Amino acid sequence: MKHITAIRKPMPLFVAVPTTAGTGSESTAGAVITNANNHSKYPVVSLFLIPQYAVLDETLTIGLPKDVTAYTGMDALTHAVEAYIGEFGTAYTDEEALKAIKMIFENLEQAYLHGENLEYRRNMLVASNYAANAFTRAHVGYVHTISHALSAIYNVGHGKTNAIILPYMLEHYGKSAEGKLAQIAIYTGLGKEEEGQEVLAKKVIKRIKDMNEKMDIPSKVEELKEKDIELVVNKALKEGNPAYPVPKIMNREEMDEIVRELLN
Ligand SMILES: [Fe+2]
Repeated sequence: MKHITAIRKPMPLFVAVPTTAGTGSESTAGAVITNANNHSKYPVVSLFLIPQYAVLDETLTIGLPKDVTAYTGMDALTHAVEAYIGEFGTAYTDEEALKAIKMIFENLEQAYLHGENLEYRRNMLVASNYAANAFTRAHVGYVHTISHALSAIYNVGHGKTNAIILPYMLEHYGKSAEGKLAQIAIYTGLGKEEEGQEVLAKKVIKRIKDMNEKMDIPSKVEELKEKDIELVVNKALKEGNPAYPVPKIMNREEMDEIVRELLN
């Protein structure tokens, strides 16, 4: 994602009202401007873009289609997981991320199945907000860099590709993310400390795969073509290295291997 720090002075009063759960834009320093004429997207990052107020009104998300509910919810989960396993985490961002992950595990499939239920919708809005509090400070990781590359090339949905990539990336992080994933498993009630980190980490990855399956999210990126893999790898590495605080820095071969796994 290109960062353009073009905003040099505070904006007028900014009240953000999210209509998905979500991007978390209501509490982050990021925004995306779409040029409808040439279908380009311009990411803008500025501290002046953090809204003074956010209004979380679940009634605005009631009408979201099932697939959008699933994709945006998995985007929020990816924010929380990447912020939590990365190297920039603080006690505050760790807590926000864990709360978000637990709420998403407990509410997203329900919101997907029962879209009219205000409680599930409200919990997802709050979870997305917690996730945003975490990632706007602790950043994201390679799931997002690959996702950005894929949307630049194929214009595929951000949340959908994040959902697909997340379990693959967590498997590739291996030992480097195992301890944090084990903490997620314990916090969310997926397992107990005595089971050991490896088993607990696998439980988290399996939980994410199960969520994708239950919400009809594919396990491969259908748009991805073999001839474009090198371009995706280049873009993902360029964005991620060295800017992103990932648990393990991937080299070209490793990134190539991961992207190849996404091929249908
Ligand atoms: Fe995202």
